[in-house]
Amino acid sequence: MILVTGGAGFIGGNFVLDWLKDPSNEGIVNLDKLTYAGNLATLESLKDDPRHIFVHGDIGDEVLVAKLLKEHQPRAIVNFAAESHVDRSIHGPADFVSTNIVGTFNLLECAREYWNGLDGAEKKAFRFHHVSTDEVYGSLSATDPAFTETNSYEPNSPYSASKAASDHLVRAWFHTYDFPVVTTNCSNNYGPYHFPEKLIPLVILNALNGKPLPIYGDGQQIRDWLYVGDHCSAIREVLAKGKLGETYNIGGWNEKANIDVVKTICTILDELQPRLDGRSYIEQITYVKDRPGHDRRYAIDASKVERELGWRPAETFDTGIRKTVQWYLDNPDWVEGVVSGSYRDWLQKQYS
Ligand code: NAD
Ligand code: TYD
Repeated sequence: MILVTGGAGFIGGNFVLDWLKDPSNEGIVNLDKLTYAGNLATLESLKDDPRHIFVHGDIGDEVLVAKLLKEHQPRAIVNFAAESHVDRSIHGPADFVSTNIVGTFNLLECAREYWNGLDGAEKKAFRFHHVSTDEVYGSLSATDPAFTETNSYEPNSPYSASKAASDHLVRAWFHTYDFPVVTTNCSNNYGPYHFPEKLIPLVILNALNGKPLPIYGDGQQIRDWLYVGDHCSAIREVLAKGKLGETYNIGGWNEKANIDVVKTICTILDELQPRLDGRSYIEQITYVKDRPGHDRRYAIDASKVERELGWRPAETFDTGIRKTVQWYLDNPDWVEGVVSGSYRDWLQKQYS
């Protein structure tokens, strides 16, 4: 088995689905707290699959995590579980500290205890893969080179600060205890099963529902965008071949300004599902108040993972975004399931 945490969320869910598509891969124990961002509908196709064991629980629950490790004897842990939304971290940072920092600490300690009890080949083969973000490196100016693994950590939001803290714990467990870790720092993901509080799914759904498409500030902030399936393939590669104690930057070589991302989505929707009045979805773009402390630019230099492990993304932004828009058009039931009362409360709080 492998133990995946946060596997009912966006990236974790895609990872679990992709992993289990390959019959030669082991089974997965999937530990997820099912916060607002966790969604069992994403895993619906696995409900009769004996290789998927879902456990509803918290990575911060020491007794539960120790019990799962003892019972299932995983050969690896992939830690996706986190609070992941910058805007929510600004409204309420406490959950970010407890899950991203204290939860990761608990997972590390339980895993170290378990790993100490393994012997020979099993101990040598064990891996703790920590999934992190490029946001730990802070913000770039327009002319700065892209982030490499040696950039200093300069997190600016409660979210990125909590992820930075977790990365530091993971690093320290390697250096102090020889605990076998690898860390990946990835840029912004997009694709199927993405909760519509994040820019790309929010814009697709608001456009289709005739609502404003909110652009923070001047819309010139730049992100590097990676199709989620490519992130999952990178994690599989690093888990299999990554060097212990190393970090790998994962990115799509796709730097885009937010306003251009939103216009691209509008243009694809104009083609695939034109507005009834024949006008463009671009007319729904609305500039709103900027996010406090909004990072201007993120850019990933993913050449280390390419050079050392031979990984490169398969999708360009054009192919990935088209697939994503099509997926949201084809899956209204999944969307209906996540657009709950608490989601509507969030929209009211954030955009009123
Ligand atoms: P997400 O918010 O969609 O999902 C997080 C999942 O973790 C949810 O299923 C949630 O229920 C679960 N969870 C939260 N707290 C938990 C806890 N205490 N115990 C167990 N489960 C818990 O997040 P995502 O976008 O899928 O991100 C996954 C990971 O990848 C995160 O660590 C994030 O920092 C990192 N990351 C995300 C992006 C991105 O663009 N989304 C980019 C780089 C890195
Ligand atoms: P987001 O998807 O929240 O990811 P992150 O903040 O982790 O990069 O946002 C991506 C970019 O889009 C970010 O620069 C903020 C911006 N944004 C908007 O302009 N409007 C929105 O409604 C949202 C949610 C984000």
